Amino acid sequence: MTKKAVLLTGGAGFIGSHTAVALVNAGYEPVILDNFSNSQPAVLNRLEQIVGRALVCERGDVGDSAWVQSVISKHGICAVVHFAGCKAVGESMADPLKYYVNNVAGTISLLKAMQAAGCRLLVFSSSATVYGDPATSPITEDFPIQSANTYGATKVMCEQMLAEMSSSDNRWRAGVLRYFNPVGAHPSGLIGDDPSGVPNNLMPYVTQVAAGQRPMLDIFGDDYETEDGTGVRDYIHVQDLALGHVAAVRTLLEGASSFTVNLGAGHGHSVLEVVRAFEAASGQQIPYQIAPRRPGDVAAYYADPSAAARLLGWHAKHDLNDMCTDAWRWQQYASQNSSKT
Ligand code: WQD
Repeated sequence: MTKKAVLLTGGAGFIGSHTAVALVNAGYEPVILDNFSNSQPAVLNRLEQIVGRALVCERGDVGDSAWVQSVISKHGICAVVHFAGCKAVGESMADPLKYYVNNVAGTISLLKAMQAAGCRLLVFSSSATVYGDPATSPITEDFPIQSANTYGATKVMCEQMLAEMSSSDNRWRAGVLRYFNPVGAHPSGLIGDDPSGVPNNLMPYVTQVAAGQRPMLDIFGDDYETEDGTGVRDYIHVQDLALGHVAAVRTLLEGASSFTVNLGAGHGHSVLEVVRAFEAASGQQIPYQIAPRRPGDVAAYYADPSAAARLLGWHAKHDLNDMCTDAWRWQQYASQNSSKT
Protein backbone atom coordinates (compact mmCIF):
# COMPACT_ATOMS: atom_id res chain seq x y z
CA MET A 1 0.00 0.00 0.00
CA THR A 2 1.33 3.48 -0.82
CA LYS A 3 2.15 5.56 2.20
CA LYS A 4 0.19 8.75 2.75
CA ALA A 5 2.35 11.73 1.83
CA VAL A 6 2.40 14.68 4.24
CA LEU A 7 4.01 17.98 3.26
CA LEU A 8 6.11 19.68 5.97
CA THR A 9 6.80 23.32 5.19
CA GLY A 10 9.89 24.29 7.18
CA GLY A 11 10.50 20.56 7.54
CA ALA A 12 14.27 20.97 8.03
CA GLY A 13 13.81 23.19 11.09
CA PHE A 14 13.84 22.25 14.76
CA ILE A 15 10.29 20.98 15.19
CA GLY A 16 9.80 20.08 11.52
CA SER A 17 12.79 17.72 11.44
CA HIS A 18 11.66 15.85 14.57
CA THR A 19 8.15 15.60 13.13
CA ALA A 20 9.56 14.15 9.89
CA VAL A 21 11.11 11.29 11.88
CA ALA A 22 7.92 10.75 13.89
CA LEU A 23 5.84 10.61 10.69
CA VAL A 24 8.17 7.99 9.17
CA ASN A 25 7.88 5.93 12.36
CA ALA A 26 4.09 6.18 12.14
CA GLY A 27 4.03 4.92 8.52
CA TYR A 28 3.61 8.23 6.65
CA GLU A 29 5.82 9.63 3.89
CA PRO A 30 7.02 13.12 4.88
CA VAL A 31 7.85 15.51 2.05
CA ILE A 32 10.12 18.24 3.37
CA LEU A 33 9.78 21.69 1.85
CA ASP A 34 12.32 24.26 3.02
CA ASN A 35 14.20 27.28 1.71
CA PHE A 36 16.95 26.74 4.33
CA SER A 37 16.78 30.38 5.42
CA ASN A 38 17.03 29.25 9.04
CA SER A 39 18.19 25.64 8.78
CA GLN A 40 20.98 23.62 7.19
CA PRO A 41 20.61 21.34 4.15
CA ALA A 42 22.89 18.89 6.00
CA VAL A 43 20.01 18.20 8.40
CA LEU A 44 18.66 15.96 5.64
CA ASN A 45 21.64 13.61 5.75
CA ARG A 46 21.26 13.30 9.48
CA LEU A 47 17.53 12.69 9.17
CA GLU A 48 18.26 9.95 6.64
CA GLN A 49 20.77 8.46 9.06
CA ILE A 50 18.09 8.38 11.77
CA VAL A 51 15.35 6.83 9.63
CA GLY A 52 17.71 4.60 7.64
CA ARG A 53 16.44 5.56 4.19
CA ALA A 54 16.21 8.42 1.71
CA LEU A 55 13.69 11.20 2.30
CA VAL A 56 12.07 13.53 -0.19
CA CYS A 57 13.01 17.19 0.01
CA GLU A 58 11.87 20.07 -2.17
CA ARG A 59 13.97 23.20 -1.89
CA GLY A 60 12.06 26.43 -2.33
CA ASP A 61 9.93 29.10 -0.79
CA VAL A 62 6.43 28.78 0.59
CA GLY A 63 5.75 32.23 -0.88
CA ASP A 64 5.94 30.75 -4.38
CA SER A 65 2.35 29.57 -4.52
CA ALA A 66 2.42 28.08 -8.04
CA TRP A 67 5.51 26.04 -7.18
CA VAL A 68 4.02 24.83 -3.87
CA GLN A 69 0.88 23.78 -5.77
CA SER A 70 3.01 21.76 -8.17
CA VAL A 71 4.81 20.08 -5.23
CA ILE A 72 1.47 19.16 -3.61
CA SER A 73 0.20 17.66 -6.87
CA LYS A 74 3.45 15.91 -7.78
CA HIS A 75 3.66 14.05 -4.46
CA GLY A 76 -0.07 13.41 -4.00
CA ILE A 77 -0.01 15.24 -0.66
CA CYS A 78 -2.98 14.42 1.59
CA ALA A 79 -2.23 16.87 4.44
CA VAL A 80 0.15 19.74 5.13
CA VAL A 81 1.92 20.67 8.36
CA HIS A 82 2.90 24.33 8.18
CA PHE A 83 6.00 25.06 10.28
CA ALA A 84 7.70 27.56 7.94
CA GLY A 85 7.89 31.00 9.48
CA CYS A 86 9.94 33.32 11.64
CA LYS A 87 9.74 33.00 15.42
CA ALA A 88 11.94 35.53 17.21
CA VAL A 89 9.82 37.91 19.29
CA GLY A 90 12.47 40.67 19.47
CA GLU A 91 13.20 40.56 15.74
CA SER A 92 9.48 40.75 15.01
CA MET A 93 9.27 44.10 16.82
CA ALA A 94 12.35 45.44 14.99
CA ASP A 95 11.31 44.19 11.55
CA PRO A 96 7.52 43.66 11.52
CA LEU A 97 7.29 43.58 7.74
CA LYS A 98 9.51 40.50 7.60
CA TYR A 99 7.04 38.76 9.94
CA TYR A 100 3.93 39.81 8.03
CA VAL A 101 5.53 38.69 4.75
CA ASN A 102 6.93 35.36 5.95
CA ASN A 103 4.26 34.35 8.43
CA VAL A 104 1.03 35.90 7.14
CA ALA A 105 1.66 36.26 3.38
CA GLY A 106 3.51 32.90 3.49
CA THR A 107 0.44 31.20 4.97
CA ILE A 108 -1.86 32.88 2.42
CA SER A 109 0.40 31.66 -0.38
CA LEU A 110 0.29 28.12 1.04
CA LEU A 111 -3.50 28.18 1.42
CA LYS A 112 -3.88 29.32 -2.19
CA ALA A 113 -1.62 26.50 -3.35
CA MET A 114 -3.56 23.95 -1.29
CA GLN A 115 -6.90 25.26 -2.57
CA ALA A 116 -5.71 25.06 -6.19
CA ALA A 117 -4.33 21.54 -5.67
CA GLY A 118 -7.47 20.36 -3.84
CA CYS A 119 -5.68 19.50 -0.57
CA ARG A 120 -7.47 21.17 2.35
CA LEU A 121 -6.16 19.50 5.51
CA LEU A 122 -3.70 21.63 7.45
CA VAL A 123 -1.90 21.34 10.78
CA PHE A 124 -0.69 24.76 11.84
CA SER A 125 2.20 25.70 14.17
CA SER A 126 0.81 28.24 16.56
CA SER A 127 2.13 29.33 19.90
CA ALA A 128 1.15 29.97 23.50
CA THR A 129 2.25 33.51 22.73
CA VAL A 130 -1.31 34.08 21.42
CA TYR A 131 -2.45 34.19 25.06
CA GLY A 132 -0.33 37.31 25.72
CA ASP A 133 -0.13 37.85 29.48
CA PRO A 134 -2.70 35.35 30.79
CA ALA A 135 -4.35 36.21 34.09
CA THR A 136 -3.99 32.68 35.51
CA SER A 137 -2.64 29.21 34.75
CA PRO A 138 -3.35 26.51 33.69
CA ILE A 139 -4.37 28.07 30.37
CA THR A 140 -7.26 26.56 28.43
CA GLU A 141 -7.87 27.19 24.72
CA ASP A 142 -10.81 29.51 25.43
CA PHE A 143 -8.62 32.05 27.27
CA PRO A 144 -8.66 35.49 25.61
CA ILE A 145 -6.37 35.86 22.61
CA GLN A 146 -4.15 38.92 22.67
CA SER A 147 -0.95 39.63 20.82
CA ALA A 148 1.74 41.35 22.86
CA ASN A 149 4.18 41.49 19.92
CA THR A 150 4.28 41.28 16.12
CA TYR A 151 5.26 37.61 16.11
CA GLY A 152 2.20 36.82 18.22
CA ALA A 153 0.03 39.03 16.01
CA THR A 154 1.01 36.99 12.94
CA LYS A 155 0.00 33.75 14.70
CA VAL A 156 -3.33 35.27 15.76
CA MET A 157 -4.01 36.41 12.17
CA CYS A 158 -3.22 33.00 10.72
CA GLU A 159 -5.43 31.25 13.29
CA GLN A 160 -8.25 33.61 12.34
CA MET A 161 -7.78 32.97 8.62
CA LEU A 162 -7.94 29.22 9.20
CA ALA A 163 -11.09 29.53 11.30
CA GLU A 164 -12.76 31.58 8.54
CA MET A 165 -11.64 29.16 5.81
CA SER A 166 -13.15 26.20 7.70
CA SER A 167 -16.42 27.95 8.36
CA SER A 168 -16.70 29.06 4.74
CA ASP A 169 -16.10 25.57 3.30
CA ASN A 170 -16.21 22.39 5.39
CA ARG A 171 -13.71 20.70 3.08
CA TRP A 172 -11.14 22.92 4.83
CA ARG A 173 -10.14 21.38 8.15
CA ALA A 174 -7.33 22.73 10.29
CA GLY A 175 -5.63 21.49 13.44
CA VAL A 176 -4.13 24.47 15.25
CA LEU A 177 -1.40 23.47 17.72
CA ARG A 178 -0.40 26.05 20.33
CA TYR A 179 3.07 25.10 21.49
CA PHE A 180 4.33 26.07 24.91
CA ASN A 181 8.16 25.99 25.28
CA PRO A 182 9.68 23.33 23.00
CA VAL A 183 13.12 22.09 24.10
CA GLY A 184 15.21 18.90 24.00
CA ALA A 185 16.42 17.04 20.93
CA HIS A 186 16.24 13.68 19.21
CA PRO A 187 17.80 10.99 21.47
CA SER A 188 20.29 10.12 18.69
CA GLY A 189 21.89 13.55 19.25
CA LEU A 190 21.90 14.09 15.47
CA ILE A 191 19.22 16.79 15.27
CA GLY A 192 18.21 19.53 17.68
CA ASP A 193 17.66 23.23 18.13
CA ASP A 194 20.20 25.13 16.05
CA PRO A 195 19.63 28.87 16.53
CA SER A 196 21.81 31.21 14.52
CA GLY A 197 23.62 33.90 16.52
CA VAL A 198 22.99 34.48 20.22
CA PRO A 199 20.13 32.25 21.37
CA ASN A 200 16.99 34.10 22.53
CA ASN A 201 15.63 31.12 24.40
CA LEU A 202 16.71 29.66 27.70
CA MET A 203 17.60 26.05 26.83
CA PRO A 204 19.94 26.69 23.87
CA TYR A 205 21.62 29.43 25.91
CA VAL A 206 22.15 27.06 28.83
CA THR A 207 23.56 24.33 26.54
CA GLN A 208 26.03 26.81 25.01
CA VAL A 209 27.17 27.94 28.47
CA ALA A 210 27.63 24.27 29.45
CA ALA A 211 29.71 23.73 26.30
CA GLY A 212 31.94 26.69 27.17
CA GLN A 213 30.79 28.73 24.18
CA ARG A 214 29.38 31.48 26.43
CA PRO A 215 30.75 32.52 29.81
CA MET A 216 27.52 32.64 31.80
CA LEU A 217 23.76 32.72 31.76
CA ASP A 218 21.84 35.88 32.59
CA ILE A 219 18.75 34.96 34.55
CA PHE A 220 16.20 37.61 33.69
CA GLY A 221 14.75 38.50 37.09
CA ASP A 222 14.57 36.71 40.43
CA ASP A 223 11.82 38.85 41.93
CA TYR A 224 8.77 37.37 40.21
CA GLU A 225 5.92 36.03 42.29
CA THR A 226 7.00 32.44 41.83
CA GLU A 227 8.43 29.95 44.29
CA ASP A 228 12.08 30.89 43.74
CA GLY A 229 11.47 34.28 42.08
CA THR A 230 12.48 33.22 38.55
CA GLY A 231 10.12 32.83 35.58
CA VAL A 232 8.09 29.64 35.24
CA ARG A 233 7.31 28.06 31.86
CA ASP A 234 5.79 24.88 30.50
CA TYR A 235 8.72 23.12 28.80
CA ILE A 236 7.82 20.38 26.36
CA HIS A 237 10.18 17.83 24.83
CA VAL A 238 10.35 18.21 21.04
CA GLN A 239 9.85 14.44 20.72
CA ASP A 240 6.48 14.77 22.46
CA LEU A 241 5.65 17.76 20.29
CA ALA A 242 6.49 15.76 17.15
CA LEU A 243 4.08 13.01 18.26
CA GLY A 244 1.43 15.70 18.78
CA HIS A 245 1.75 16.56 15.07
CA VAL A 246 1.42 12.94 14.03
CA ALA A 247 -1.71 12.65 16.17
CA ALA A 248 -3.12 15.86 14.65
CA VAL A 249 -2.50 14.63 11.09
CA ARG A 250 -4.05 11.25 11.87
CA THR A 251 -7.08 12.85 13.54
CA LEU A 252 -7.73 15.13 10.54
CA LEU A 253 -7.30 12.25 8.09
CA GLU A 254 -9.82 10.24 10.11
CA GLY A 255 -12.38 13.00 9.43
CA ALA A 256 -12.29 15.24 12.52
CA SER A 257 -13.48 18.80 12.11
CA SER A 258 -11.16 21.73 12.84
CA PHE A 259 -9.67 21.95 16.32
CA THR A 260 -7.32 24.11 18.38
CA VAL A 261 -5.28 22.54 21.17
CA ASN A 262 -2.48 23.44 23.56
CA LEU A 263 0.60 21.24 23.39
CA GLY A 264 2.27 21.52 26.77
CA ALA A 265 3.20 19.32 29.70
CA GLY A 266 0.62 20.87 31.99
CA HIS A 267 3.04 22.11 34.64
CA GLY A 268 5.82 24.65 34.87
CA HIS A 269 9.50 24.77 35.80
CA SER A 270 11.40 27.85 36.96
CA VAL A 271 14.60 29.07 35.32
CA LEU A 272 16.59 27.93 38.36
CA GLU A 273 14.99 24.48 38.19
CA VAL A 274 16.03 24.22 34.54
CA VAL A 275 19.59 25.25 35.42
CA ARG A 276 19.80 22.68 38.25
CA ALA A 277 18.29 19.92 36.09
CA PHE A 278 20.71 20.71 33.28
CA GLU A 279 23.68 20.61 35.66
CA ALA A 280 22.56 17.21 36.93
CA ALA A 281 21.98 15.81 33.42
CA SER A 282 25.23 17.13 31.92
CA GLY A 283 27.61 17.04 34.86
CA GLN A 284 28.61 20.61 33.88
CA GLN A 285 28.33 23.67 36.06
CA ILE A 286 26.24 26.53 34.66
CA PRO A 287 27.61 29.85 35.93
CA TYR A 288 24.84 32.45 36.09
CA GLN A 289 24.08 35.94 37.30
CA ILE A 290 20.81 37.60 38.09
CA ALA A 291 20.03 40.25 35.47
CA PRO A 292 17.11 42.68 35.16
CA ARG A 293 13.76 41.33 34.00
CA ARG A 294 13.44 40.97 30.22
CA PRO A 295 10.81 43.39 28.87
CA GLY A 296 7.62 41.59 27.90
CA ASP A 297 8.26 38.52 30.09
CA VAL A 298 5.51 37.28 32.38
CA ALA A 299 6.02 35.56 35.74
CA ALA A 300 4.52 32.16 35.05
CA TYR A 301 2.37 30.24 32.65
CA TYR A 302 1.59 26.65 31.82
CA ALA A 303 -0.92 24.75 29.72
CA ASP A 304 -4.04 22.84 30.45
CA PRO A 305 -3.32 20.08 27.88
CA SER A 306 -6.57 18.16 28.46
CA ALA A 307 -8.11 19.12 25.09
CA ALA A 308 -5.17 17.50 23.28
CA ALA A 309 -5.64 14.38 25.41
CA ARG A 310 -9.35 14.27 24.63
CA LEU A 311 -9.23 15.11 20.90
CA LEU A 312 -5.89 13.60 19.88
CA GLY A 313 -5.20 10.99 22.57
CA TRP A 314 -1.95 12.84 23.18
CA HIS A 315 -0.06 13.79 26.29
CA ALA A 316 3.56 14.70 27.04
CA LYS A 317 5.63 11.79 28.35
CA HIS A 318 9.15 13.18 28.74
CA ASP A 319 10.30 14.99 31.87
CA LEU A 320 12.75 17.83 32.41
CA ASN A 321 15.64 15.39 32.91
CA ASP A 322 14.98 13.86 29.45
CA MET A 323 14.83 17.34 27.92
CA CYS A 324 18.18 18.32 29.44
CA THR A 325 19.89 14.99 28.70
CA ASP A 326 18.85 15.07 25.04
CA ALA A 327 19.63 18.79 24.59
CA TRP A 328 23.10 18.17 26.03
CA ARG A 329 23.75 15.16 23.75
CA TRP A 330 22.81 17.33 20.74
CA GLN A 331 24.98 20.23 21.94
CA GLN A 332 27.98 17.92 22.23
CA TYR A 333 27.41 16.63 18.70
CA ALA A 334 26.98 20.21 17.45
CA SER A 335 30.17 21.37 19.19
CA GLN A 336 32.16 18.54 17.62
CA ASN A 337 30.73 19.37 14.19
CA SER A 338 31.25 23.09 14.66
CA SER A 339 29.21 24.27 11.68
CA LYS A 340 26.55 21.75 12.77
CA THR A 341 26.62 20.43 9.22
C1 WQD B 1 12.05 31.08 29.25
C2 WQD B 1 12.37 31.64 30.62
C3 WQD B 1 13.02 33.95 30.55
C4 WQD B 1 16.76 33.33 28.33
C5 WQD B 1 9.52 32.33 23.85
C6 WQD B 1 8.55 33.06 22.97
C7 WQD B 1 7.35 32.22 22.72
C8 WQD B 1 7.73 30.83 22.21
C9 WQD B 1 8.77 30.19 23.05
C10 WQD B 1 7.66 30.52 19.83
C11 WQD B 1 11.82 33.05 30.84
C12 WQD B 1 14.18 33.09 31.03
C13 WQD B 1 15.56 33.15 28.99
C14 WQD B 1 17.89 33.73 29.09
C15 WQD B 1 16.55 33.70 31.08
N1 WQD B 1 8.27 30.87 20.89
N2 WQD B 1 15.46 33.34 30.34
N3 WQD B 1 17.73 33.90 30.43
O1 WQD B 1 10.03 33.78 26.58
O2 WQD B 1 8.79 31.78 27.55
O3 WQD B 1 8.90 32.07 25.12
O4 WQD B 1 9.86 31.09 23.24
O5 WQD B 1 6.51 30.29 19.67
O6 WQD B 1 6.58 32.89 21.80
O7 WQD B 1 8.18 34.27 23.61
O8 WQD B 1 10.95 31.39 26.32
O9 WQD B 1 13.16 30.34 26.47
O10 WQD B 1 13.02 32.82 25.95
O11 WQD B 1 12.43 32.01 28.24
O12 WQD B 1 16.48 33.89 32.32
O13 WQD B 1 18.99 33.95 28.56
O14 WQD B 1 13.80 31.76 30.72
O15 WQD B 1 13.00 35.17 31.24
O16 WQD B 1 11.44 33.14 32.19
P1 WQD B 1 9.65 32.36 26.47
P2 WQD B 1 12.46 31.63 26.67
